[in-house]
Amino acid sequence: MLEDKDRIFTNVYGFQPWGLKAAQARGDWDNTKALMLRGQDAIIDEIKASGLRGRGGAGFPTGTKWGFMPKEPKPGRPNFLVINADESEPGSCKDREIIRHDPHKLIEGALIAGYAMRARAAYIYIRGEYIREAETLYAAIAEAYDAGLIGRNASGSGYDFDVFLHRGAGAYICGEETAMLESLEGKKGQPRLKPPFPAGAGLYGCPTTVNNVESIAVAPTILRRGAGWFASFGRENNKGTKLFQISGHVNKPCVVEEAMSIPFRELIDRHCGGIRGGWDNLLAVIPGGSSVPLVPASQIMDAPMDFDGLRDVKSGLGTAAVIVMDKSTDIVRAISRISYFYKHESCGQCTPCREGTGWMWRVMERLREGQAEIEEIDMLEEVTRQVEGHTICALGDAAAWPIQGLIRHFRPEIERRITARQAGAAPLAAAAE
Ligand SMILES: Cc1cc2nc3c(=O)[nH]c(=O)nc-3n(C[C@H](O)[C@H](O)[C@H](O)COP(=O)(O)O)c2cc1C
Ligand code: SF4
Repeated sequence: MLEDKDRIFTNVYGFQPWGLKAAQARGDWDNTKALMLRGQDAIIDEIKASGLRGRGGAGFPTGTKWGFMPKEPKPGRPNFLVINADESEPGSCKDREIIRHDPHKLIEGALIAGYAMRARAAYIYIRGEYIREAETLYAAIAEAYDAGLIGRNASGSGYDFDVFLHRGAGAYICGEETAMLESLEGKKGQPRLKPPFPAGAGLYGCPTTVNNVESIAVAPTILRRGAGWFASFGRENNKGTKLFQISGHVNKPCVVEEAMSIPFRELIDRHCGGIRGGWDNLLAVIPGGSSVPLVPASQIMDAPMDFDGLRDVKSGLGTAAVIVMDKSTDIVRAISRISYFYKHESCGQCTPCREGTGWMWRVMERLREGQAEIEEIDMLEEVTRQVEGHTICALGDAAAWPIQGLIRHFRPEIERRITARQAGAAPLAAAAE
């Protein structure tokens, strides 16, 4: 178990104030200049050595990503850092805890990461619904400016660095990095075709790196405590500490920082007071936010909660938003509701996603009620394969995977509903949206 002394987010529950003085007492902004004086490439190398992988879902190695940025920005084409605080994936609720209780970790991280990447400024894109969080972050940024920590000659380093806060308007797709860039530029938030990748042509056509809030907020502590310390947690290729967000049918849902690779059962017993009704009552878990396939109880119990451990059970760590479902769950309805979400959030640019998400949701609703033929299960599976990997962005995949997981593990339940319906069972009540 992760000990208190090894926690990065020491105020994640807000027991102390979020403001600058309290943050400094917790160690934030402690001689940031010295960290910067180590040099830009040394910072990138340290992050690479720490094994940090992106915390926004895809798990791309953070140091490697920073290394893609041009080392000598051309005049009139500055480098930019964009911080993704859109956090709209159902189940995910960690970035908001960082922002409202530990915002200075994010702002200091923005300066250090931005400096390492030779960025002129950071744009933090926060989801529109995070109203109080945006207020806190805005006030924390103002505090940092007033104290000379950011802005001209940031932290006395001789480097000029601005931090801007931009509020979204409530579209999940704006969390996709290129849709975010479009939205920041004042356009409709629709993903761009890649290439070019943002490190080549991103915000306003300039080299840009997009990183998740947690990826950036852990950077100062990694530099202070050393790559070796961070890499001492978790299995090979899955290093560090991680904010897990556990919701659903556990006794005490929570957000908690733990060592990567902690087994699922230990995570739940230690921090959530176990499964509601006991371990025998566990049905399935969505371990990484709504877009990853569910894992049935028997396979998740001992799975290490990390990128590789969850890939091995055909799911993913995603944002580590762990949605626990006990046996009272109508699992077909739960996945159908997720399908509705993706249908609603599709930006409509690609035909397989625009048409497919609606089609899949409508079939899911019929399966929920048992109003279908058995053959349609295979047909639905086939359609998910036609959507997956055939779209501009990964929302298409995100819509396909939960359904694939359901069919893989709960086909007998889907068939049971169809058979019961054919045998004359009464229709189920319509699901509330
Ligand atoms: C539909 C969609 C929504 C996304 N939403 C978010 C989000 O809310 N927050 C986030 O950090 N990344 C989100 N991502 C991932 C980002 O595109 C990007 O990979 C991430 O911000 C990179 O940061 P990281 O390397 O630090 O993980 C989303 C991706 C897709 C396809
Ligand atoms: S996959 Fe869906 S959300 Fe992504 S660009 Fe295509 S239509 Fe838009």
